[in-house]
Amino acid sequence: MNRIQLIQEIFSKTDFTNYLEIGCQKGKSFLPIKAKNKTAVDPLFKIPIRRRLKWLIKWPSNRKNRYFQEESDNFFAKRKEYLRQLGHLDIVLVDGLHNFRTSLNDVLNSLNYLNPKGLILMHDCYPPNAAAAYPSEFFPSDEEIKNIEGWADEWCGDVWKSVVYLIRKYPDTLEVGVINTDYGLGFVMPKSAMKERDFRIDEKLFAEIDKLTYEDMMKDPKGTINLKEAGHAEKIISKITSGSK
Ligand SMILES: C[S@@+](CC[C@H](N)C(=O)[O-])C[C@H]1O[C@@H](n2cnc3c(N)ncnc32)[C@H](O)[C@@H]1O
Repeated sequence: MNRIQLIQEIFSKTDFTNYLEIGCQKGKSFLPIKAKNKTAVDPLFKIPIRRRLKWLIKWPSNRKNRYFQEESDNFFAKRKEYLRQLGHLDIVLVDGLHNFRTSLNDVLNSLNYLNPKGLILMHDCYPPNAAAAYPSEFFPSDEEIKNIEGWADEWCGDVWKSVVYLIRKYPDTLEVGVINTDYGLGFVMPKSAMKERDFRIDEKLFAEIDKLTYEDMMKDPKGTINLKEAGHAEKIISKITSGSK
């Protein structure tokens, strides 16, 4: 099951209405998802007009989509009123800039608005090899790529470190792990009523986790990122849907 199927299954089986996608690019996952209110954030949308039209015909509610062409940090800083009026976020897909700090900020900012029964998914949390896990602030430059052994044009970066951070920082508040499918789908779910409300980055813990390497994580993915087999997606779906609709 990939990210689109997992997200769609939950929207179909619940009364969830609000979807946020951080990092939308060509709209491959954003446009097919059927949800009442969809919001996309990306500093550079590249949605081909034909795809936009195709999905408008297939799923007319796409006409109501809101697109914010800006970086996610700006979006959360500037769009507080928009988010407040939405009421809550039911499902968030974090798939923007694939570095530790940005992906962590995207999750922490989303948590401030998350439905207590909702879900944050993070794409690219289990890179297939060290080249894909290359830690870099931005998509590696051509110059950098020349020196990355085994580069196959797949960049997951070190988003996986955000999973380590969330597991360590919020053991009583959040259920966090990675489903071994679709380059690793990180999941973040509030455990019960979310008591923790301080979602600023703990720089000491951040610096500690930032020292970890891909090889460190791969020695024990179960222990470091709570890696779950692909079938865990079904468990997440039933957990969320059993309390809804
Ligand atoms: C891997 S693509 C997203 C793919 C899309 N979610 C899908 O499943 O088809 C990553 C996107 O993140 C965007 N991005 C880069 N920096 C960002 C930022 N600071 N905030 C939000 N999006 C960002 C890029 O422009 C790019 O379009």
